[in-house]
Amino acid sequence: MTILTTRNLVAGYEPGLAIVRGASINVAAGEIVVILGPNGAGKSSLIKAIAGLVPISEGSVTLEGRDITALPAHRKIREGLAFVPQTENVFPRMTVEENLRLSIGIFPDRNVAQGIEETYALFPDLARQSRLLAGSLSGGQRQMLAAARALIVKPRVLMLDEPSAGLSPKFVEQVFARLQEVRATGVTIVLVEQNARAALSIGDRAYVLVEGREAHEGPARSLWDDPLIAELYLGKRKEAS
Ligand SMILES: Nc1ncnc2c1ncn2[C@@H]1O[C@H](COP(=O)(O)OP(=O)(O)O)[C@@H](O)[C@H]1O
Ligand SMILES: [Mg+2]
Repeated sequence: MTILTTRNLVAGYEPGLAIVRGASINVAAGEIVVILGPNGAGKSSLIKAIAGLVPISEGSVTLEGRDITALPAHRKIREGLAFVPQTENVFPRMTVEENLRLSIGIFPDRNVAQGIEETYALFPDLARQSRLLAGSLSGGQRQMLAAARALIVKPRVLMLDEPSAGLSPKFVEQVFARLQEVRATGVTIVLVEQNARAALSIGDRAYVLVEGREAHEGPARSLWDDPLIAELYLGKRKEAS
């Protein structure tokens, strides 16, 4: 079953200057979909547009069959669509727990204590660090907190923009392992990544975005193995054989 769709989406920061140029992607419920592509292809702009943070001029965004194209960002969160930006995704001068409280606080009907308890069960490191300032966390732990802030509101779809950026290989592995656990809880994931190998290793399907629209789509594994795509878009050198 399809959970999230964009149809010929056109979006940009200034009127008449499209950055996303007719992108159509489909995400099935329970999938991890990876969005790859060269720098400046519009990957961040695409997921920000889906999240309601970049103005959409044409096309549509559909979540669970509902047209959410025109909803503002906070309404999209309420509809079950969460977004973790690449940077500035936690409040550094607040503690870990305050960051989580603030996030679930926009849902007046939710049980805060229970939400925090469940979050700590999924992210035991954060439980240990609950009283530390978010700004004092390591890069990897900060990305975990950012993901936890998005997950505490129990979204149906979680979109992340380069959660592994700037992390050492060990932390990259941890972040991606955690994303697989998150998916196992029933959350659908859309992952924008530069780190093609790690992303494709946990992804089900992938799109390659070029100049604001999808240029290739396929099973994650076959994309990694396709020498043309690898050379053009994934920064993978042809293996001498
Ligand atoms: N806030 C912004 N205002 C204006 N232009 C932007 C902004 N953010 C990104 N762009 C432009 O949009 C294009 C695509 O950027 P981006 O979506 O960040 O690509 P990617 O994430 O694939 O590297 C780039 O040419 C970039 O300069
Ligand atoms: Mg980007």
